[in-house]
Amino acid sequence: MSVLVTGIAELVTNDPAAGDGSPLGIVRDAALVIEGDRVAWVGAGARAPAADERRHLGGRAVVPGFVDSHTHLVFAGDRAAEFEARMNGQRYDGGGIASTVAATRAAGDDTLRSLLAARVAEARAQGTTTVEVKSGYGLTVDDEARALRLAGAVTTETTYLGGHVVPPGADRGAYVAAVAGPMLAACAPLARWIDVFCEPASAHAFDGDESWTILTAGQRAGLGLRVHGNQLSAGPGVRLAVELGAASVDHCTHLTSADVDALATGSTVATLLPGVEFATRSPYPDARRLLDAGVTVALASDCNPGSCYTSSMPFVIAIAVRELRMTPAEALWAATAGAARSLRRDDIGVLSPGARADLAVLDAPSHVHLAYRPGVPLARAFRV
Ligand code: NIG
Ligand code: FE
Repeated sequence: MSVLVTGIAELVTNDPAAGDGSPLGIVRDAALVIEGDRVAWVGAGARAPAADERRHLGGRAVVPGFVDSHTHLVFAGDRAAEFEARMNGQRYDGGGIASTVAATRAAGDDTLRSLLAARVAEARAQGTTTVEVKSGYGLTVDDEARALRLAGAVTTETTYLGGHVVPPGADRGAYVAAVAGPMLAACAPLARWIDVFCEPASAHAFDGDESWTILTAGQRAGLGLRVHGNQLSAGPGVRLAVELGAASVDHCTHLTSADVDALATGSTVATLLPGVEFATRSPYPDARRLLDAGVTVALASDCNPGSCYTSSMPFVIAIAVRELRMTPAEALWAATAGAARSLRRDDIGVLSPGARADLAVLDAPSHVHLAYRPGVPLARAFRV
Protein backbone atom coordinates (compact mmCIF):
# COMPACT_ATOMS: atom_id res chain seq x y z
CA MET A 1 0.00 0.00 0.00
CA SER A 2 1.28 3.49 -0.86
CA VAL A 3 0.54 6.71 1.03
CA LEU A 4 0.99 10.21 -0.37
CA VAL A 5 1.84 12.74 2.35
CA THR A 6 1.06 16.30 1.29
CA GLY A 7 0.83 19.72 2.94
CA ILE A 8 4.49 19.69 4.01
CA ALA A 9 5.61 23.34 4.33
CA GLU A 10 9.26 22.26 4.75
CA LEU A 11 10.67 18.82 4.12
CA VAL A 12 14.16 18.12 5.48
CA THR A 13 15.60 15.19 3.51
CA ASN A 14 19.30 15.35 4.51
CA ASP A 15 19.90 14.60 0.83
CA PRO A 16 21.51 17.69 -0.75
CA ALA A 17 20.85 16.31 -4.23
CA ALA A 18 17.11 16.08 -3.58
CA GLY A 19 16.70 19.52 -2.06
CA ASP A 20 18.13 23.01 -2.04
CA GLY A 21 21.75 21.84 -2.14
CA SER A 22 22.34 22.51 1.58
CA PRO A 23 23.28 19.58 3.86
CA LEU A 24 19.65 19.44 5.07
CA GLY A 25 18.39 19.05 1.49
CA ILE A 26 15.28 21.14 2.13
CA VAL A 27 12.26 20.96 -0.20
CA ARG A 28 9.53 23.56 0.38
CA ASP A 29 5.82 22.91 -0.24
CA ALA A 30 6.77 19.28 -0.52
CA ALA A 31 5.15 15.89 -0.71
CA LEU A 32 6.43 12.39 -0.06
CA VAL A 33 5.23 8.91 -0.97
CA ILE A 34 5.63 5.98 1.41
CA GLU A 35 5.38 2.39 0.22
CA GLY A 36 5.37 -0.16 3.01
CA ASP A 37 8.12 0.89 5.40
CA ARG A 38 10.16 2.80 2.78
CA VAL A 39 10.22 6.22 1.18
CA ALA A 40 9.27 5.81 -2.50
CA TRP A 41 9.29 9.42 -3.74
CA VAL A 42 10.04 12.96 -2.49
CA GLY A 43 9.58 16.24 -4.30
CA ALA A 44 7.46 19.32 -4.86
CA GLY A 45 3.82 18.90 -3.86
CA ALA A 46 2.73 20.20 -7.27
CA ARG A 47 4.41 17.23 -8.97
CA ALA A 48 3.30 14.51 -6.57
CA PRO A 49 2.27 11.18 -8.09
CA ALA A 50 -0.96 9.35 -7.18
CA ALA A 51 -1.04 6.84 -4.32
CA ASP A 52 -3.51 4.48 -2.64
CA GLU A 53 -4.05 6.86 0.30
CA ARG A 54 -3.48 10.51 1.03
CA ARG A 55 -2.58 12.34 4.26
CA HIS A 56 -2.51 16.14 4.48
CA LEU A 57 -0.24 17.69 7.12
CA GLY A 58 -1.65 21.21 6.96
CA GLY A 59 1.58 23.14 6.44
CA ARG A 60 3.75 21.37 9.02
CA ALA A 61 7.47 20.60 8.73
CA VAL A 62 8.69 17.03 8.27
CA VAL A 63 12.20 15.96 9.26
CA PRO A 64 13.91 12.55 9.38
CA GLY A 65 12.96 10.85 12.65
CA PHE A 66 15.55 11.52 15.34
CA VAL A 67 18.23 8.87 15.74
CA ASP A 68 19.04 8.61 19.44
CA SER A 69 22.33 6.77 19.13
CA HIS A 70 23.22 6.68 22.84
CA THR A 71 20.82 5.62 25.61
CA HIS A 72 20.80 3.50 28.75
CA LEU A 73 17.07 2.69 28.86
CA VAL A 74 17.13 -0.70 30.63
CA PHE A 75 17.10 0.20 34.31
CA ALA A 76 14.99 0.32 37.44
CA GLY A 77 15.17 2.67 40.41
CA ASP A 78 15.33 6.42 40.83
CA ARG A 79 18.22 8.83 41.39
CA ALA A 80 16.35 12.10 41.79
CA ALA A 81 18.05 12.59 45.16
CA GLU A 82 21.46 12.38 43.46
CA PHE A 83 20.35 15.03 40.96
CA GLU A 84 19.08 17.21 43.80
CA ALA A 85 22.41 16.87 45.63
CA ARG A 86 24.22 17.82 42.43
CA MET A 87 22.16 20.95 42.10
CA ASN A 88 23.43 21.71 45.60
CA GLY A 89 27.03 21.50 44.45
CA GLN A 90 27.95 17.81 44.46
CA ARG A 91 30.03 16.58 41.50
CA TYR A 92 29.13 13.72 39.16
CA ASP A 93 31.70 10.88 39.12
CA GLY A 94 29.70 7.82 38.12
CA GLY A 95 29.53 6.52 41.70
CA GLY A 96 25.72 6.55 41.65
CA ILE A 97 25.67 3.90 38.93
CA ALA A 98 25.98 1.24 41.66
CA SER A 99 22.56 2.13 43.07
CA THR A 100 20.93 1.68 39.64
CA VAL A 101 22.75 -1.65 39.29
CA ALA A 102 21.25 -2.82 42.60
CA ALA A 103 17.72 -1.68 41.66
CA THR A 104 17.98 -3.19 38.16
CA ARG A 105 19.22 -6.57 39.40
CA ALA A 106 16.34 -6.65 41.92
CA ALA A 107 13.66 -5.91 39.29
CA GLY A 108 11.74 -8.73 37.58
CA ASP A 109 11.78 -9.17 33.80
CA ASP A 110 8.21 -7.87 33.39
CA THR A 111 8.97 -4.73 35.38
CA LEU A 112 12.11 -3.98 33.36
CA ARG A 113 10.32 -4.74 30.09
CA SER A 114 7.50 -2.31 30.85
CA LEU A 115 9.87 0.41 32.10
CA LEU A 116 11.84 0.07 28.86
CA ALA A 117 8.68 0.11 26.69
CA ALA A 118 7.43 3.26 28.42
CA ARG A 119 10.75 5.03 27.80
CA VAL A 120 10.82 4.04 24.13
CA ALA A 121 7.21 5.26 23.75
CA GLU A 122 8.15 8.52 25.48
CA ALA A 123 11.02 9.03 22.99
CA ARG A 124 8.81 8.19 20.01
CA ALA A 125 6.19 10.68 21.16
CA GLN A 126 8.96 13.31 20.82
CA GLY A 127 10.04 12.31 17.31
CA THR A 128 12.66 9.60 17.92
CA THR A 129 12.34 6.72 15.46
CA THR A 130 15.62 4.85 16.12
CA VAL A 131 17.07 4.22 19.53
CA GLU A 132 20.34 2.58 20.51
CA VAL A 133 20.07 0.84 23.89
CA LYS A 134 22.97 -0.20 26.12
CA SER A 135 23.18 -2.77 28.89
CA GLY A 136 25.47 -1.77 31.76
CA TYR A 137 23.28 -1.88 34.87
CA GLY A 138 23.55 -5.65 35.30
CA LEU A 139 27.32 -6.27 35.46
CA THR A 140 26.95 -10.04 35.88
CA VAL A 141 26.77 -12.53 33.01
CA ASP A 142 23.06 -13.20 33.55
CA ASP A 143 22.04 -9.61 34.26
CA GLU A 144 23.89 -8.17 31.26
CA ALA A 145 22.47 -10.87 28.96
CA ARG A 146 18.98 -10.18 30.32
CA ALA A 147 19.30 -6.44 29.62
CA LEU A 148 20.40 -7.15 26.04
CA ARG A 149 17.57 -9.62 25.46
CA LEU A 150 15.08 -6.98 26.61
CA ALA A 151 16.77 -4.29 24.53
CA GLY A 152 16.75 -6.56 21.48
CA ALA A 153 12.96 -6.65 21.61
CA VAL A 154 12.78 -2.88 20.97
CA THR A 155 15.78 -2.19 18.70
CA THR A 156 18.45 -3.80 16.54
CA GLU A 157 20.96 -1.24 17.90
CA THR A 158 21.92 -3.10 21.07
CA THR A 159 25.16 -2.36 22.90
CA TYR A 160 26.96 -4.54 25.44
CA LEU A 161 28.28 -2.29 28.22
CA GLY A 162 29.56 -4.76 30.80
CA GLY A 163 32.47 -2.30 30.98
CA HIS A 164 30.35 0.44 32.52
CA VAL A 165 31.89 0.45 36.01
CA VAL A 166 33.69 -2.01 38.27
CA PRO A 167 30.91 -3.30 40.56
CA PRO A 168 31.43 -2.32 44.22
CA GLY A 169 33.52 -4.93 46.02
CA ALA A 170 34.72 -6.62 42.80
CA ASP A 171 38.40 -7.10 42.04
CA ARG A 172 39.23 -4.76 39.16
CA GLY A 173 41.51 -7.14 37.22
CA ALA A 174 39.15 -10.08 37.62
CA TYR A 175 36.19 -7.95 36.55
CA VAL A 176 37.93 -6.72 33.37
CA ALA A 177 38.80 -10.33 32.55
CA ALA A 178 35.15 -11.33 33.03
CA VAL A 179 33.87 -8.45 30.86
CA ALA A 180 36.29 -9.45 28.08
CA GLY A 181 35.76 -13.20 28.68
CA PRO A 182 32.66 -15.10 29.82
CA MET A 183 30.36 -12.06 29.99
CA LEU A 184 31.30 -11.11 26.44
CA ALA A 185 30.76 -14.70 25.26
CA ALA A 186 27.22 -14.64 26.66
CA CYS A 187 26.42 -11.14 25.42
CA ALA A 188 28.02 -10.98 21.96
CA PRO A 189 25.23 -12.97 20.29
CA LEU A 190 22.71 -10.50 21.74
CA ALA A 191 24.48 -7.26 20.78
CA ARG A 192 25.58 -5.34 17.69
CA TRP A 193 28.03 -3.11 19.58
CA ILE A 194 30.39 -3.08 22.55
CA ASP A 195 31.02 0.05 24.60
CA VAL A 196 33.22 0.92 27.58
CA PHE A 197 33.28 3.83 30.05
CA CYS A 198 36.91 4.88 29.50
CA GLU A 199 37.54 7.48 32.18
CA PRO A 200 40.66 7.36 34.35
CA ALA A 201 39.34 10.39 36.26
CA SER A 202 36.55 8.25 37.75
CA ALA A 203 37.49 5.67 40.37
CA HIS A 204 34.62 3.52 39.09
CA ALA A 205 35.35 3.47 35.35
CA PHE A 206 38.20 2.05 33.22
CA ASP A 207 41.60 3.34 32.17
CA GLY A 208 43.03 3.21 28.65
CA ASP A 209 44.63 -0.24 28.99
CA GLU A 210 41.54 -1.81 30.53
CA SER A 211 39.37 -0.21 27.84
CA TRP A 212 41.71 -1.54 25.13
CA THR A 213 41.41 -5.07 26.56
CA ILE A 214 37.60 -4.88 26.59
CA LEU A 215 37.21 -3.27 23.17
CA THR A 216 39.64 -5.53 21.31
CA ALA A 217 37.97 -8.61 22.83
CA GLY A 218 34.64 -7.25 21.58
CA GLN A 219 36.11 -6.66 18.16
CA ARG A 220 37.35 -10.27 18.01
CA ALA A 221 33.84 -11.39 18.95
CA GLY A 222 32.48 -9.52 15.91
CA LEU A 223 31.03 -6.47 17.66
CA GLY A 224 31.31 -2.90 16.43
CA LEU A 225 32.99 -0.45 18.79
CA ARG A 226 31.64 2.56 20.68
CA VAL A 227 33.38 4.38 23.53
CA HIS A 228 32.32 6.64 26.40
CA GLY A 229 35.35 8.93 26.21
CA ASN A 230 36.64 12.22 27.60
CA GLN A 231 33.53 12.92 29.68
CA LEU A 232 35.19 14.05 32.91
CA SER A 233 38.77 14.65 31.74
CA ALA A 234 40.96 14.72 28.63
CA GLY A 235 41.69 11.00 29.02
CA PRO A 236 42.72 8.40 26.45
CA GLY A 237 39.17 7.52 25.24
CA VAL A 238 39.03 9.57 22.04
CA ARG A 239 42.43 8.49 20.73
CA LEU A 240 41.75 4.86 21.61
CA ALA A 241 38.41 5.00 19.79
CA VAL A 242 39.97 6.47 16.64
CA GLU A 243 42.94 4.07 16.75
CA LEU A 244 40.63 1.05 16.96
CA GLY A 245 38.27 2.37 14.28
CA ALA A 246 35.29 2.75 16.62
CA ALA A 247 32.07 3.93 14.97
CA SER A 248 31.61 6.58 17.65
CA VAL A 249 33.20 8.17 20.68
CA ASP A 250 30.62 9.74 22.93
CA HIS A 251 30.72 12.75 25.29
CA CYS A 252 33.98 14.38 23.96
CA THR A 253 33.62 17.07 26.62
CA HIS A 254 37.34 17.52 27.39
CA LEU A 255 39.51 17.41 24.27
CA THR A 256 43.17 18.12 23.54
CA SER A 257 44.35 19.34 20.13
CA ALA A 258 45.65 15.82 19.48
CA ASP A 259 42.14 14.45 20.13
CA VAL A 260 40.59 16.89 17.64
CA ASP A 261 43.29 16.09 15.06
CA ALA A 262 42.70 12.35 15.52
CA LEU A 263 38.94 12.77 15.06
CA ALA A 264 39.46 14.94 11.98
CA THR A 265 41.62 12.32 10.25
CA GLY A 266 39.84 9.14 11.43
CA SER A 267 36.42 7.68 10.65
CA THR A 268 35.06 7.86 14.21
CA VAL A 269 32.02 10.09 14.76
CA ALA A 270 32.14 12.48 17.75
CA THR A 271 28.80 12.11 19.53
CA LEU A 272 27.99 14.99 21.84
CA LEU A 273 25.57 14.48 24.73
CA PRO A 274 24.98 18.00 26.02
CA GLY A 275 21.99 16.97 28.14
CA VAL A 276 24.66 15.49 30.44
CA GLU A 277 26.44 18.81 30.92
CA PHE A 278 23.04 20.44 31.49
CA ALA A 279 22.07 17.90 34.16
CA THR A 280 25.47 17.71 35.83
CA ARG A 281 26.05 21.47 35.60
CA SER A 282 29.35 20.98 33.78
CA PRO A 283 31.08 22.91 30.99
CA TYR A 284 29.74 22.04 27.55
CA PRO A 285 31.82 20.36 24.83
CA ASP A 286 33.30 22.62 22.15
CA ALA A 287 31.17 21.68 19.16
CA ARG A 288 32.44 24.57 17.04
CA ARG A 289 36.03 23.43 17.36
CA LEU A 290 35.03 19.96 16.13
CA LEU A 291 32.85 21.22 13.29
CA ASP A 292 35.46 23.72 12.17
CA ALA A 293 38.05 20.91 12.09
CA GLY A 294 35.77 18.89 9.78
CA VAL A 295 34.82 16.23 12.35
CA THR A 296 31.48 14.44 11.85
CA VAL A 297 29.38 15.39 14.88
CA ALA A 298 26.32 13.53 16.18
CA LEU A 299 23.92 14.47 18.97
CA ALA A 300 22.19 11.98 21.27
CA SER A 301 20.34 12.06 24.59
CA ASP A 302 22.36 9.62 26.77
CA CYS A 303 19.02 9.04 28.51
CA ASN A 304 19.98 7.40 31.84
CA PRO A 305 18.93 7.78 35.48
CA GLY A 306 22.19 9.38 36.64
CA SER A 307 23.89 11.90 34.40
CA CYS A 308 20.92 12.88 32.19
CA TYR A 309 17.37 11.65 32.53
CA THR A 310 15.76 13.04 29.40
CA SER A 311 14.51 11.15 26.34
CA SER A 312 13.92 14.38 24.41
CA MET A 313 15.98 14.90 21.26
CA PRO A 314 14.31 18.30 20.65
CA PHE A 315 15.58 19.36 24.07
CA VAL A 316 19.10 18.19 23.14
CA ILE A 317 18.88 20.12 19.85
CA ALA A 318 17.81 23.26 21.70
CA ILE A 319 20.78 23.01 24.09
CA ALA A 320 23.15 22.34 21.18
CA VAL A 321 21.98 25.51 19.46
CA ARG A 322 21.89 27.76 22.51
CA GLU A 323 24.89 26.49 24.46
CA LEU A 324 27.12 24.71 21.93
CA ARG A 325 26.58 27.39 19.26
CA MET A 326 25.61 24.90 16.59
CA THR A 327 23.28 26.35 13.97
CA PRO A 328 19.73 24.92 13.97
CA ALA A 329 20.64 23.14 10.72
CA GLU A 330 23.86 21.65 12.14
CA ALA A 331 22.06 20.47 15.27
CA LEU A 332 19.22 18.81 13.34
CA TRP A 333 21.68 17.15 10.95
CA ALA A 334 23.72 15.86 13.91
CA ALA A 335 20.60 14.44 15.61
CA THR A 336 19.54 12.60 12.44
CA ALA A 337 22.16 12.00 9.70
CA GLY A 338 25.15 12.39 12.04
CA ALA A 339 23.71 9.94 14.56
CA ALA A 340 22.85 7.52 11.73
CA ARG A 341 26.48 7.69 10.63
CA SER A 342 27.57 6.92 14.19
CA LEU A 343 25.52 3.72 13.90
CA ARG A 344 26.97 3.06 10.42
CA ARG A 345 23.48 3.14 8.93
CA ASP A 346 22.51 4.70 5.60
CA ASP A 347 18.84 3.70 5.64
CA ILE A 348 17.90 6.09 8.46
CA GLY A 349 18.55 9.78 9.18
CA VAL A 350 17.71 10.58 5.56
CA LEU A 351 14.44 10.83 3.62
CA SER A 352 15.21 9.79 0.06
CA PRO A 353 13.82 6.95 -2.06
CA GLY A 354 14.79 3.58 -0.56
CA ALA A 355 15.38 4.90 2.96
CA ARG A 356 13.19 3.81 5.86
CA ALA A 357 10.03 5.89 6.11
CA ASP A 358 10.99 7.12 9.58
CA LEU A 359 9.51 10.61 9.74
CA ALA A 360 9.02 13.14 12.50
CA VAL A 361 6.28 15.71 12.02
CA LEU A 362 6.64 19.11 13.68
CA ASP A 363 3.71 21.23 14.78
CA ALA A 364 5.61 24.13 13.24
CA PRO A 365 6.44 25.41 9.75
CA SER A 366 10.21 24.86 9.96
CA HIS A 367 12.92 22.88 11.76
CA VAL A 368 14.24 26.11 13.33
CA HIS A 369 11.30 25.94 15.76
CA LEU A 370 12.93 22.93 17.47
CA ALA A 371 15.39 25.34 19.12
CA TYR A 372 13.27 28.49 18.84
CA ARG A 373 10.50 26.95 20.99
CA PRO A 374 12.40 24.91 23.62
CA GLY A 375 10.36 22.66 25.88
CA VAL A 376 7.29 22.80 23.62
CA PRO A 377 6.17 19.33 22.43
CA LEU A 378 6.33 20.05 18.69
CA ALA A 379 7.76 16.78 17.35
CA ARG A 380 6.20 13.33 17.08
CA ALA A 381 7.05 10.22 15.14
CA PHE A 382 4.75 9.80 12.12
CA ARG A 383 2.79 6.62 11.75
CA VAL A 384 1.04 5.84 8.46
O1 NIG B 1 26.91 8.16 29.73
N1 NIG B 1 29.34 7.93 31.84
C1 NIG B 1 28.90 6.85 32.12
N2 NIG B 1 27.64 6.40 31.94
C2 NIG B 1 26.47 7.22 31.81
C3 NIG B 1 25.91 7.60 33.12
C4 NIG B 1 25.32 6.45 33.81
C5 NIG B 1 24.76 6.76 35.15
O2 NIG B 1 25.18 7.73 35.85
O3 NIG B 1 23.86 5.98 35.54
C6 NIG B 1 26.76 8.40 30.92
O4 NIG B 1 26.82 9.56 31.36
FE1 FE C 1 26.20 6.99 28.38
